[in-house]
Amino acid sequence: MSESVVETRRRLLKYLALGPLALPLGALLRADEPIASIEDALSLLDFEAAARRALPPAHWGYLATGVDDDRTVRANREAMDHVQIRARHLVNVSRVDTASAIFGRPVRSPLFLCPVSSMRAFHPEGELGVARAARAEGTIVGLSTMATTKIEDVTEARGEPVWFQLYPSNDAAVMRAMVKRAEAAGSKVLLLTVDLPVGPNRHTARRFAKQDDRPCAACHDNSTFAGTVRRKPMYDGLDLSKVEDNIEPAMDWDYVKRLRDLTSMKLVLKGVVTREDAALAVEHGVDGVYVSNHGGRSEESGRGALDSLPEVVDAVKGRVPVLIDSGFRRGTDVFKALALGATMVGIGRPYVWGLAAFGEQGVQAVVRMLEAELRMAMQTCGTPRIRDIGRERVLA
Ligand code: FNR
Repeated sequence: MSESVVETRRRLLKYLALGPLALPLGALLRADEPIASIEDALSLLDFEAAARRALPPAHWGYLATGVDDDRTVRANREAMDHVQIRARHLVNVSRVDTASAIFGRPVRSPLFLCPVSSMRAFHPEGELGVARAARAEGTIVGLSTMATTKIEDVTEARGEPVWFQLYPSNDAAVMRAMVKRAEAAGSKVLLLTVDLPVGPNRHTARRFAKQDDRPCAACHDNSTFAGTVRRKPMYDGLDLSKVEDNIEPAMDWDYVKRLRDLTSMKLVLKGVVTREDAALAVEHGVDGVYVSNHGGRSEESGRGALDSLPEVVDAVKGRVPVLIDSGFRRGTDVFKALALGATMVGIGRPYVWGLAAFGEQGVQAVVRMLEAELRMAMQTCGTPRIRDIGRERVLA
């Protein structure tokens, strides 16, 4: 457990021991009251309020948004309540080990940082701050096609290759060039995002943008695709004359086949939520299936990602690893996904909250806090090692 978490708990217990009258007003922070420093954070949700305070309305809206009525954003959290943990006791949990592995690479814990676009819109340190924090914590970084920092620089800051996330393109030459650039930067894992066939209806983002009185055009030029990606270095030097968007409604299984033939990187499909697609993915020779609904930012299905996990795991039948993200905020949430068969669990918004509010240190704090909670969940539920977290540990 990190020092800051220990210290915060110690302070809280001290106040409680003195009785309720000794509690200074506001000592018990509510999650919607922004924390002033990392040390004040009790949970990941404390970073959310701090990020909201730190960001201009339009950027906050972009981070927070789902689609339509944000039902799927809420469903991702509610799905955690659909699963209960069966805690076993009288197990020696004096030592717990969160170590795991993915694609033969050992990891300190089964957490990773999801690809999130435009990180410099949230903090000047941007992707570099995230990479340095991940390096300090030994965490895997997923880098977005829409990153605002060059993959080569992020790789250097991370101290090892990142996982590269690919948005499809209607121009095969552009897709090929991007894949080859990621390969040249040393990336061993390619995440093809399959859950965004059209531009989604992000009303929350639009509402917040209306509250922002800064001139958007000073930074954003969305009149052409080339303008939109002007500050997205994965597109540097590419001929974009035939490119319509970074979404490709025509993408189908043939596209996956072409990508499979193009690269020897581990190919993972990001955004699979049904048994049918999971089975097809394995048939098409992918190396991993990644359950995700883009954090509720793609389809407004109203279905939480964790609810989709069991059918995907059933269809995959252990042939390739299953990864998951969308809505993970607590160590117990991560525990539930591992018990239902996930190998790795990704977080998106929480580490961006940390970045927005406190830069690199904030990202580190978020990762440490979630790892500390996972360790605690493993201890309270009698599972000292990740491999002990089996299906029998949950009711779903
Ligand atoms: C994303 N996500 C995302 N996914 C992707 O494949 N490519 C991308 O460029 C982005 N960009 C992006 C921007 C922002 C602001 C957010 C919040 C998310 C989705 C991301 O990888 C992941 O699936 C979700 O963020 C996970 O859900 P939580 O943890 O945010 O609830």
